[in-house]
Amino acid sequence: MAGLVVAMDGPSGSGKSSVSRAVARELGLRYLDTGAMYRAMTWWMLRQGVDLDDPEAIAARSGEPEITSGTDPDAPAIAVDGEDVAGPIRGPEVTAAVSAVSAVPEVRRRLVAQQQAIMDESCRDGAGIVIEGRDIGLVVAPQAPVKIFLTASAEARARRRTAELTGTTVEAQQAAMARRDTLDSTRAASPLAKADDAVELDTTALSLEEVISEVLRLTKERTP
Ligand code: DC
Repeated sequence: MAGLVVAMDGPSGSGKSSVSRAVARELGLRYLDTGAMYRAMTWWMLRQGVDLDDPEAIAARSGEPEITSGTDPDAPAIAVDGEDVAGPIRGPEVTAAVSAVSAVPEVRRRLVAQQQAIMDESCRDGAGIVIEGRDIGLVVAPQAPVKIFLTASAEARARRRTAELTGTTVEAQQAAMARRDTLDSTRAASPLAKADDAVELDTTALSLEEVISEVLRLTKERTP
Protein backbone atom coordinates (compact mmCIF):
# COMPACT_ATOMS: atom_id res chain seq x y z
CA MET A 1 0.00 0.00 0.00
CA ALA A 2 1.48 3.33 -1.05
CA GLY A 3 -0.15 5.72 1.44
CA LEU A 4 0.73 6.29 5.06
CA VAL A 5 -1.58 5.02 7.83
CA VAL A 6 -1.31 6.47 11.34
CA ALA A 7 -3.31 4.44 13.88
CA MET A 8 -4.37 6.42 16.96
CA ASP A 9 -6.00 4.57 19.87
CA GLY A 10 -6.87 5.48 23.43
CA PRO A 11 -9.72 6.09 25.86
CA SER A 12 -12.06 9.09 25.71
CA GLY A 13 -10.52 12.39 26.75
CA SER A 14 -6.98 11.24 25.93
CA GLY A 15 -6.79 13.90 23.20
CA LYS A 16 -7.13 11.55 20.20
CA SER A 17 -9.38 13.76 18.08
CA SER A 18 -7.50 17.04 18.43
CA VAL A 19 -4.15 15.32 17.93
CA SER A 20 -5.31 13.18 14.99
CA ARG A 21 -6.86 16.10 13.14
CA ALA A 22 -3.80 18.30 13.62
CA VAL A 23 -1.41 15.56 12.50
CA ALA A 24 -3.55 14.83 9.42
CA ARG A 25 -3.63 18.53 8.55
CA GLU A 26 0.12 18.91 9.00
CA LEU A 27 0.96 15.86 6.86
CA GLY A 28 -1.74 16.34 4.22
CA LEU A 29 -3.51 13.10 5.19
CA ARG A 30 -7.20 12.22 5.40
CA TYR A 31 -8.77 11.76 8.86
CA LEU A 32 -11.31 9.21 10.11
CA ASP A 33 -13.09 9.30 13.48
CA THR A 34 -14.30 5.72 13.94
CA GLY A 35 -15.98 6.58 17.27
CA ALA A 36 -18.34 8.86 15.34
CA MET A 37 -19.42 5.85 13.24
CA TYR A 38 -20.26 3.80 16.37
CA ARG A 39 -22.10 6.85 17.72
CA ALA A 40 -24.04 7.22 14.44
CA MET A 41 -25.07 3.54 14.58
CA THR A 42 -26.19 4.09 18.20
CA TRP A 43 -28.16 7.23 17.28
CA TRP A 44 -30.04 5.27 14.61
CA MET A 45 -30.78 2.34 17.00
CA LEU A 46 -32.17 4.77 19.60
CA ARG A 47 -34.34 6.48 17.02
CA GLN A 48 -35.67 3.13 15.79
CA GLY A 49 -36.54 2.14 19.36
CA VAL A 50 -34.29 -0.96 19.25
CA ASP A 51 -33.92 -2.54 22.72
CA LEU A 52 -30.27 -1.84 23.54
CA ASP A 53 -30.28 -4.42 26.32
CA ASP A 54 -30.76 -7.06 23.62
CA PRO A 55 -27.54 -7.69 21.61
CA GLU A 56 -29.42 -9.97 19.19
CA ALA A 57 -31.88 -7.20 18.36
CA ILE A 58 -28.96 -4.80 17.75
CA ALA A 59 -27.20 -7.39 15.55
CA ALA A 60 -30.35 -8.07 13.54
CA ARG A 61 -30.82 -4.39 12.63
CA SER A 62 -27.15 -3.41 12.27
CA GLY A 63 -27.09 -3.80 8.48
CA GLU A 64 -29.88 -1.28 7.88
CA PRO A 65 -28.52 2.25 8.42
CA GLU A 66 -26.30 3.77 5.74
CA ILE A 67 -23.54 5.53 7.68
CA THR A 68 -21.33 7.93 5.73
CA SER A 69 -18.25 9.54 7.16
CA GLY A 70 -16.22 12.39 5.68
CA THR A 71 -12.42 12.34 5.86
CA ASP A 72 -11.55 16.06 5.85
CA PRO A 73 -9.60 16.89 9.05
CA ASP A 74 -10.89 20.47 8.84
CA ALA A 75 -14.55 19.48 8.54
CA PRO A 76 -15.30 15.98 9.85
CA ALA A 77 -18.77 15.00 8.65
CA ILE A 78 -21.04 12.14 9.66
CA ALA A 79 -24.47 11.25 8.29
CA VAL A 80 -27.01 8.47 8.61
CA ASP A 81 -29.20 7.78 5.56
CA GLY A 82 -28.22 11.20 4.28
CA GLU A 83 -29.10 13.05 7.52
CA ASP A 84 -26.34 15.08 9.20
CA VAL A 85 -25.98 13.71 12.75
CA ALA A 86 -22.77 15.48 13.82
CA GLY A 87 -24.64 17.31 16.61
CA PRO A 88 -26.94 14.60 18.05
CA ILE A 89 -24.25 11.90 18.20
CA ARG A 90 -22.43 13.95 20.88
CA GLY A 91 -25.53 14.15 23.11
CA PRO A 92 -25.85 12.37 26.47
CA GLU A 93 -28.31 9.70 25.22
CA VAL A 94 -25.91 8.44 22.55
CA THR A 95 -22.89 8.74 24.84
CA ALA A 96 -24.63 6.62 27.50
CA ALA A 97 -25.69 3.93 24.99
CA VAL A 98 -22.71 3.68 22.62
CA SER A 99 -20.74 1.10 24.62
CA ALA A 100 -23.63 -1.39 24.42
CA VAL A 101 -23.95 -1.00 20.65
CA SER A 102 -20.22 -1.07 19.93
CA ALA A 103 -19.84 -4.32 21.90
CA VAL A 104 -21.96 -6.24 19.37
CA PRO A 105 -19.73 -8.24 16.94
CA GLU A 106 -22.03 -7.73 13.90
CA VAL A 107 -21.87 -3.96 14.40
CA ARG A 108 -18.07 -4.10 14.58
CA ARG A 109 -17.73 -6.37 11.54
CA ARG A 110 -19.75 -4.00 9.40
CA LEU A 111 -18.10 -0.79 10.57
CA VAL A 112 -14.57 -2.22 10.50
CA ALA A 113 -15.09 -3.31 6.85
CA GLN A 114 -16.30 0.18 6.02
CA GLN A 115 -13.34 1.78 7.85
CA GLN A 116 -10.88 -0.44 5.99
CA ALA A 117 -12.47 0.50 2.65
CA ILE A 118 -12.08 4.22 3.52
CA MET A 119 -8.46 3.58 4.55
CA ASP A 120 -7.66 1.72 1.31
CA GLU A 121 -9.24 4.46 -0.78
CA SER A 122 -7.31 7.19 1.11
CA CYS A 123 -4.06 5.35 0.43
CA ARG A 124 -4.88 4.64 -3.20
CA ASP A 125 -6.16 8.11 -4.12
CA GLY A 126 -4.29 10.27 -1.59
CA ALA A 127 -1.31 10.46 0.72
CA GLY A 128 -2.90 8.29 3.42
CA ILE A 129 -4.95 8.68 6.58
CA VAL A 130 -4.92 9.16 10.35
CA ILE A 131 -7.53 6.84 11.90
CA GLU A 132 -8.58 7.21 15.52
CA GLY A 133 -10.52 4.79 17.71
CA ARG A 134 -10.12 1.90 20.14
CA ASP A 135 -9.12 -1.04 17.93
CA ILE A 136 -7.24 0.63 15.08
CA GLY A 137 -3.73 -0.72 15.77
CA LEU A 138 -5.00 -4.21 16.56
CA VAL A 139 -7.93 -4.79 14.19
CA VAL A 140 -8.63 -2.06 11.63
CA ALA A 141 -5.03 -1.35 10.55
CA PRO A 142 -2.63 -3.92 12.07
CA GLN A 143 -0.19 -3.15 9.21
CA ALA A 144 0.02 0.59 10.04
CA PRO A 145 3.67 1.67 10.32
CA VAL A 146 2.79 4.28 12.96
CA LYS A 147 0.70 3.26 15.97
CA ILE A 148 0.10 5.58 18.89
CA PHE A 149 -1.71 4.74 22.13
CA LEU A 150 -2.65 7.95 23.94
CA THR A 151 -3.38 7.89 27.66
CA ALA A 152 -3.93 10.47 30.40
CA SER A 153 -4.95 10.30 34.04
CA ALA A 154 -8.67 9.79 34.71
CA GLU A 155 -8.86 13.25 36.24
CA ALA A 156 -7.15 14.99 33.32
CA ARG A 157 -9.42 13.23 30.85
CA ALA A 158 -12.54 14.20 32.82
CA ARG A 159 -11.33 17.80 33.07
CA ARG A 160 -10.82 18.04 29.30
CA ARG A 161 -14.21 16.51 28.53
CA THR A 162 -15.98 18.79 31.06
CA ALA A 163 -14.46 21.85 29.37
CA GLU A 164 -16.14 20.77 26.09
CA LEU A 165 -19.59 20.29 27.65
CA THR A 166 -22.12 22.35 29.58
CA GLY A 167 -24.14 21.36 32.65
CA THR A 168 -21.73 18.79 34.05
CA THR A 169 -18.98 18.57 36.64
CA VAL A 170 -15.53 16.99 36.58
CA GLU A 171 -16.70 14.43 39.17
CA ALA A 172 -19.79 13.43 37.15
CA GLN A 173 -17.73 13.17 33.97
CA GLN A 174 -15.06 11.10 35.69
CA ALA A 175 -17.68 8.63 36.93
CA ALA A 176 -19.38 8.39 33.51
CA MET A 177 -16.06 7.96 31.71
CA ALA A 178 -14.90 5.29 34.15
CA ARG A 179 -18.08 3.34 33.44
CA ARG A 180 -17.62 3.62 29.67
CA ASP A 181 -13.88 2.77 29.88
CA THR A 182 -14.69 -0.38 31.85
CA LEU A 183 -17.30 -1.47 29.31
CA ASP A 184 -15.01 -0.68 26.34
CA SER A 185 -12.00 -2.45 27.89
CA THR A 186 -13.73 -5.60 29.12
CA ARG A 187 -16.06 -6.45 26.22
CA ALA A 188 -15.41 -9.71 24.37
CA ALA A 189 -15.22 -8.20 20.86
CA SER A 190 -12.04 -6.15 20.19
CA PRO A 191 -11.70 -4.45 23.59
CA LEU A 192 -9.69 -1.25 23.92
CA ALA A 193 -6.09 -2.46 24.13
CA LYS A 194 -2.63 -1.35 23.11
CA ALA A 195 -0.92 -3.16 20.22
CA ASP A 196 2.55 -4.50 21.11
CA ASP A 197 4.13 -2.28 18.46
CA ALA A 198 2.22 0.88 19.48
CA VAL A 199 4.01 3.74 21.22
CA GLU A 200 2.25 4.74 24.44
CA LEU A 201 2.14 8.47 25.08
CA ASP A 202 0.89 9.79 28.43
CA THR A 203 -0.54 13.25 27.73
CA THR A 204 -1.47 14.17 31.33
CA ALA A 205 1.27 16.76 31.74
CA LEU A 206 1.67 17.73 28.07
CA SER A 207 0.10 20.56 26.11
CA LEU A 208 -1.74 19.77 22.89
CA GLU A 209 1.14 21.27 20.89
CA GLU A 210 3.65 19.04 22.68
CA VAL A 211 1.62 15.91 21.93
CA ILE A 212 1.22 16.88 18.27
CA SER A 213 4.93 17.49 17.81
CA GLU A 214 5.80 14.19 19.51
CA VAL A 215 3.41 12.30 17.22
CA LEU A 216 4.89 14.07 14.18
CA ARG A 217 8.38 13.14 15.38
CA LEU A 218 7.40 9.47 15.85
CA THR A 219 5.75 9.44 12.42
CA LYS A 220 8.90 10.77 10.73
CA GLU A 221 11.02 8.27 12.66
CA ARG A 222 8.86 5.34 11.59
CA THR A 223 8.41 6.26 7.93
CA PRO A 224 11.37 6.41 5.56
O1 DC B 1 -14.13 8.05 20.68
P1 DC B 1 -15.58 8.15 21.12
O2 DC B 1 -15.75 8.47 22.57
O3 DC B 1 -16.38 9.06 20.25
O4 DC B 1 -16.15 6.67 20.90
C1 DC B 1 -17.47 6.36 21.22
C2 DC B 1 -17.59 4.89 21.63
O5 DC B 1 -17.40 4.06 20.50
C3 DC B 1 -16.62 4.43 22.70
O6 DC B 1 -17.28 4.33 23.94
C4 DC B 1 -16.17 3.07 22.24
C5 DC B 1 -16.66 2.92 20.85
N1 DC B 1 -15.60 2.74 19.86
C6 DC B 1 -15.19 1.47 19.58
O7 DC B 1 -15.69 0.52 20.18
N2 DC B 1 -14.25 1.25 18.62
C7 DC B 1 -13.70 2.27 17.96
N3 DC B 1 -12.79 2.02 17.01
C8 DC B 1 -14.09 3.60 18.26
C9 DC B 1 -15.03 3.81 19.24
